[in-house]
Amino acid sequence: MNVTIKTPADQDKMRVASRLAADVLDMIGSHVAPGVTTDELNQICHRYIVEEQSAIPAPLNYRGFPKSICTSVNHVVCHGIPSDRVLKNGDAINIDITVIKDGFHGDTSRMFFVGKPSVLAERLAKICFEGMWLGIEQVRAGARLGDVGHAVQTHVEKSRFSIVREYCGHGIGREFHEDPQVLHYGKPGTGFELQAGMTITVEPMVNAGKRHVKLLNDGWTVVTKDHSLSAQWEHTVLVTGTGYEVLTLGAADRGATP
Ligand code: MF3
Ligand code: CO
Ligand code: CO
Repeated sequence: MNVTIKTPADQDKMRVASRLAADVLDMIGSHVAPGVTTDELNQICHRYIVEEQSAIPAPLNYRGFPKSICTSVNHVVCHGIPSDRVLKNGDAINIDITVIKDGFHGDTSRMFFVGKPSVLAERLAKICFEGMWLGIEQVRAGARLGDVGHAVQTHVEKSRFSIVREYCGHGIGREFHEDPQVLHYGKPGTGFELQAGMTITVEPMVNAGKRHVKLLNDGWTVVTKDHSLSAQWEHTVLVTGTGYEVLTLGAADRGATP
C-alpha cells in the first residue's frame, strides 16, 4: 500500500495547496447562476488557478480527463465533465476542485444551488454535509477507517438516503489518489489504522434513491442508476495525534475576514 506520512514541511505544503483549492470554491460560488454553462465555470476556475494562484488544476489530463474541474449536476454522482450544458433555476451542482502547488495536492468539493433548490435537494445536501463532518470527527491517530465510514453511513441511512460504494475518499499528497481508500460505510473498529501525519479526503456521495450507479459512455460521468438526485461534499484532512485538522476550510469557516 502506498500510504505516505507527511513531514512537518510536507504538512505545510498540504496546507497551502488545500487552502488554494478552498479559495477556488469561495471564488466560483457567485458565478453559479441560471444561464451559465458548466464549461464557463471550468474556464473561470482554470484561469484563476493558473493565473492568480500559479497552481496546476490536477484533473486536467489526469488519466485523460479533459477539463480542469468536475461539475456534477443533479443526478450526476461525480466526475461530471464541464460542457455547454446551461444551468437552470433549481439545479444542484457539485463543483470539485483539486489543485497542485509545490508538488502537493489539495482536494475539496461543495454543493451549490442555482436559484431556489427543491426541498429534497436541500435536505440531501444537508444530510451529506453532516455525514461528511461526522466522518471527519472520527479522525485521529489510532482511529480505524471503519469508524469513519460507519459514522457517515449511520447518519445517511437513518435519513433514508443511500451511500455510493463504488467511489470513495483517498490518501492524498504528492499523488492525487494515494492509499488508503476511505470508504463511506463500514464497521467500527475495523479497517486501516490512521497515524499522525497522514492526509486523507472524506467525500461521501449520497443518493436520494438507491445506491447503485452507472458509468456513462464518456468514460467519466457517474450517474445514479435510478436517476435520483445525488450530492457530495469533500474535505482534505490531516491526521494529528489528538484529532484532525481540516485543510480545505473556506474563508468563512476559517474565520478569515473577507
Ligand atoms: N476530485 C476527485 C476526487 O475527489 C477526482 C476527480 S478525477 C478527475 O477524488 F479526473 F475526474 F478529475
Ligand atoms: Co478526492
Ligand atoms: Co475531489
